[in-house]
Amino acid sequence: MRLSGRSRVSRVSRVTRLAAPAVAALLALTTACTGSTVQGRPGASGLRDPYFPKAGNGGYQVDHYRLDLAYDPGDGVLHGKAVITARAEQGLSSFNLDFSGLKVEGVTVQGAGARFNRTGSELTVRPADDLRTGEVFRTEVAYSGKPKALSDPDGSEEGWIPVEDGAFAVGEPVGSMTWFPGNHHPSDKAAYDITLTVPKGYEAVSNGLLRSRTDTGDGRTAFAWHSAEPVASYLVTAAVGKFTVATGQTPSGVPLYTAVAAGEAEDGGPALARLPEMVEWGAERFGPYPFAAAGAIVAPSETLAYALETQTRPVFSGVPNEELVLHELAHQWFGNSVSPKSWKDMWLNEGFATYAEWLWAEEHGGPSAQRRFEAFLAGDTSVDAGAGSDWDAFPPAVPPGPEDISASPVYYRGAMVLHRIRQEAGDAKFFALLRGWVADHRHGNASTADFTAYAERKTGLDLSKVWDAWLYGKDSPR
Ligand code: TRP
Ligand code: ZN
Repeated sequence: MRLSGRSRVSRVSRVTRLAAPAVAALLALTTACTGSTVQGRPGASGLRDPYFPKAGNGGYQVDHYRLDLAYDPGDGVLHGKAVITARAEQGLSSFNLDFSGLKVEGVTVQGAGARFNRTGSELTVRPADDLRTGEVFRTEVAYSGKPKALSDPDGSEEGWIPVEDGAFAVGEPVGSMTWFPGNHHPSDKAAYDITLTVPKGYEAVSNGLLRSRTDTGDGRTAFAWHSAEPVASYLVTAAVGKFTVATGQTPSGVPLYTAVAAGEAEDGGPALARLPEMVEWGAERFGPYPFAAAGAIVAPSETLAYALETQTRPVFSGVPNEELVLHELAHQWFGNSVSPKSWKDMWLNEGFATYAEWLWAEEHGGPSAQRRFEAFLAGDTSVDAGAGSDWDAFPPAVPPGPEDISASPVYYRGAMVLHRIRQEAGDAKFFALLRGWVADHRHGNASTADFTAYAERKTGLDLSKVWDAWLYGKDSPR
């Protein structure tokens, strides 16, 4: 089945709600905060995302994360130091980071010891001095412990996932808080420098470019990874294991770094071999590849029940097929460069990445997107197994709840929205729309309303019937 390896499509799990805010505790902290020269107030403990209200935090925006992490697959213990450079958007007497599990050993703000307390996955930090609006400040959090993955009722997991001889980190939607403290909502993207120190003999891979690989002299190797372009925290990854590493570049010169877990086909298989060609294809269809690096991480099969488009370096469980490699690559434009404003906007990720699969197929000997669209309408699974799913169960712009953001309508009905636009606009305008959308929102965030307004402006068409029937309408468009 085409969709094997992406069982998220049909998952029906309910994502565990995060702990309620400790309003009383925060008020107590504020009133205790006297004697400070600047007047600040607590930053909000969540960004009120419609589906993950406690994800992210108010009052500041992060510019940069430096994560210095040491991990030993032998005992599964992670030692971390996070240095978070952020800008205060209000006067702050305290602010929150999202962080779950692990032990916090100490927090400093601007080099001075800061008080902190923890409630659920909220780490509240009270700096010695209040922070002024516009102030750029540095927070350091030292921590350690055995990270615990978050697990969904359907058995799928996210966060830090230990395996037999290593570990893999995947964060969509809220798993990154299991291994580093941060402002864990896609609306706050930042640059990253991640150094992973591991016992000699292990490889350690993250996003972006490998700046250095250093023998630390104490039986360990330190891998320093750099992402200059903004990354949403759910797209940050870390992979530790015995890997076969391959480097190279695409025909147009994008550096490639691919790591394949021991026990899997060493080269990652024939689909991954086409990644350089796919990157060039994507650049032609969607505009320049948005990042300084590309590649893949192939974890041992069964590590996860899904793949994730972690920035520049998607994580696959076992050797991926062509559709999956193309899908996760397409997310680099749709989701990673143009990121959702909230978790409600997931179809902007999944509908687009799925439609990219359809486009790739029709140009490489597969069924046309039109044929696939018709097969979905007819429930004909001979063209696409997904046609047999409940793809029309709800309108993709309004998933009923957080458990539905990765359900099949978000992928398939989302892709069909794009095909409907293409039918109305014709190929020339449609592809100009895709390229314009990516260029206009490069390294930013966008919502469904941003897209519908942009599509009408760019094509000059009134597409309200498409939005009503396909994006928002409760009735099945069948
Ligand atoms: N984004 C992944 C993909 O496209 C699927 C996925 C993994 C996902 N974890 C998720 C989607 C959590 C929504 C929420 O293949
Ligand atoms: Zn996807």
